[in-house]
Parts: sequence; structure tokens; C-alpha cells
Amino acid sequence: RREYHIVILGAGGVGKSCLTSQFVHNEWIEYYDPTIEDVYRKVIDVDGRSCILEILDTAGTEQFSQEIYMKAGQGFLLVYSITSLSTLTELSDLRDQILRIKEANSVPLVIVGNKSDLEEDRAVRRDRAIMLSQKWGRVPFYETSARKRQNVDEVFLDLCRQMMRA
Ligand code: GTP
Ligand code: MG
Repeated sequence: RREYHIVILGAGGVGKSCLTSQFVHNEWIEYYDPTIEDVYRKVIDVDGRSCILEILDTAGTEQFSQEIYMKAGQGFLLVYSITSLSTLTELSDLRDQILRIKEANSVPLVIVGNKSDLEEDRAVRRDRAIMLSQKWGRVPFYETSARKRQNVDEVFLDLCRQMMRA
């Protein structure tokens, strides 16, 4: 069985831990408990092949260990919140950093616009993320709701398929 390392990156409070918790345990977490660093393992079936995923849920606030995470990661979820434009614009720096550290032109990556259930608080139009996705060479983009468990499995599956091809 193949094992893949996934790293989840994005600003503080965008919902990285909630997405992970829904994906791994089918659990919704209402309270906000800022992450330091958490690792999860999950076995999933991707198109009939069993894969072991090691998922690293990182802290939103920038910190020294980020480079180490990026080096070890094979696939990345770059998460922003649809309620905050600055969380989307921050993703460009993260991607630049990943490509620099991995000395690559592209890596398995998904852009994730979380909190899609908060339509009334939307501050980022879908076009905005689609433009970024195109700029980056058609990187897959999904809007998700960790709260409603919408598109959560899809995001991880897409990333797994990219890692299997890489
Ligand atoms: P750090 O660990 O500090 O980097 O934050 P994080 O990105 O892990 O955010 P976390 O998952 O802890 O979620 C932060 C807050 O947003 C929590 O209160 C969650 O309940 C809430 N939240 C997360 N995802 C969603 C979502 O899809 N919809 C709504 N409405 N709230 C969400
Ligand atoms: Mg967290």
C-alpha cells in the first residue's frame, strides 16, 4: 500500500482543523481551538486502490517549522475562507514557498475556499479563486463547508489522485 503525506496550510481560523476532523472522523467542531500541530492517519480507497494518508494539520500563524512541513509534504491543501479576502491573497506566498522548497514548477495542490455555508458573509467571489487557479496552471479549486460536510471528501480525493499520478 502506498503512503502519502498531505499538508494543510492557510491562515488562522479558515477551517483547516474542521475540514480535517470531518474528513478523518466525520465530526464537526464548533469551538475554535487554534492548532499547534496535529497529525492524522487515514486509509482510503482511491479508484480501487488503497492508500494510507498521513495528514498534517498546521498552525495558521506563520512559524518556523513550516519549511520542514513543506519539505515532507507530497500534496497540499491551500485553504482560505470565503468570508475573508486576505486569506485568499495569502495563499500565493504559501505556494511560492512550497515550490521554492521543493524545487519544483508544480506540486499536487488544491485550492479550498471553506465556509461556503456562510453565503451571507461572502467576501470572496468564486471568480477570484478561479482566476488564481488559472494563473497557477488550472489547479483544482473547490468551495467547501466543513460545517455541512460539503465537498470535503472530494477535496482529499482530488489531491490523492494528483499524488498518485505524480
Ligand atoms: P488554526 O488552527 O488557528 O490555523 O485555525 P483553523 O484553520 O484550523 O480553523 P478551525 O478549523 O479551528 O476553525 C476556526 C473556526 O471556524 C471554528 O470556530 C469553526 O467552527 C469555524 N469553521 C470552520 N469551518 C467552518 C465552515 O465550513 N463553516 C462555518 N460556518 N464555520 C466554520
Ligand atoms: Mg487548526
